[in-house]
Amino acid sequence: MVKEAGQTKLHIDLHRHLRENNEDPRLIRLICEIAEASKYIINSIRTGDLGLAGTSNLYGEEQLALDVLSDRILVKRLTYSGVVAKIASEESREVTTIHENGDEYYSVAYDPLDGSSLVDVNLAVGTIVSIFKGSNLLQPGRKQAAALYILYGPRTTLVYSTGKGVHEFSMNQLMEYTLVRENIRMGDKAAIYSPGGQRNLYTQGVESFAAYLEENGVKLRYSGGFVPDFNQVLLKGKGIFFYPHLKNAPQGKLRLLFELNPMAFLMEQAGGAASTGRGPILDIVPQKVEDRAPVFIGCREDVAKAEKFIAAGD
Ligand code: F6P
Ligand code: MN
Repeated sequence: MVKEAGQTKLHIDLHRHLRENNEDPRLIRLICEIAEASKYIINSIRTGDLGLAGTSNLYGEEQLALDVLSDRILVKRLTYSGVVAKIASEESREVTTIHENGDEYYSVAYDPLDGSSLVDVNLAVGTIVSIFKGSNLLQPGRKQAAALYILYGPRTTLVYSTGKGVHEFSMNQLMEYTLVRENIRMGDKAAIYSPGGQRNLYTQGVESFAAYLEENGVKLRYSGGFVPDFNQVLLKGKGIFFYPHLKNAPQGKLRLLFELNPMAFLMEQAGGAASTGRGPILDIVPQKVEDRAPVFIGCREDVAKAEKFIAAGD
């Protein structure tokens, strides 16, 4: 059951939610195909062999690493969905064209299994997806038609936005995604922070920002997986995730198209902010599919504070 301002709604599944939001049937198809693909990804995470790419199974078939397998599952479903123009995956790096002249179709950029090395130690991982209308994937993230992620943790969570708020779904015993919470909203100030990258490589501005958070009693919460760390910040509504520019990596680590744009879209839709430390992530015009950027994403006041420390210190 879902509770929303004085009324109780019964079991709204993802498809119905999209339909009731009057989304384009092709976009509904696409999002539901990704949700279907995630069921197979879950199965391979739960039962697949670990880290054994290049080895063979009982039947002498070659085993695939989980990130490669997750990529194949998604490529297959997206290719046959009938609604996709182009696909870019963090795993393959080559853009695949399914439909030329795809103005009425959608193009998808995704990270099929973010944090895949964490599966070996049984920590949470996720799939991150960015969707544009048409066939141009090198557009500012603000132009995304939709963004979503799926978190494979003790439970499976799907969070999506088509630009009309951010909505959380959880997988039930029938493997259907049912609505948990609509219109998730961020608070103004962080109570937790998730800092990526090695601290001794932080620049002066970023170091001062981290010290500021600690001095103000903001608690450290970092699993090393972008999807679970981001999910905690978003669903608790009081936090900030950052993977900053480092002394030896001015563009940080995370990928703009596959990781940052979709999360920034969701965060802004929830009333939070997403910045490189010098301006909004969603305004960056990508030069190439594999571009990276630093990121500070979460409560507005803290993202603004990070920008101030960086402007003053770097
Ligand atoms: O895909 C990159 C990733 O695995 C993210 O899930 C995570 O936030 C980040 O790398 C962690 O990087 P580091 O180990 O450098 O903190
Ligand atoms: Mn990743």
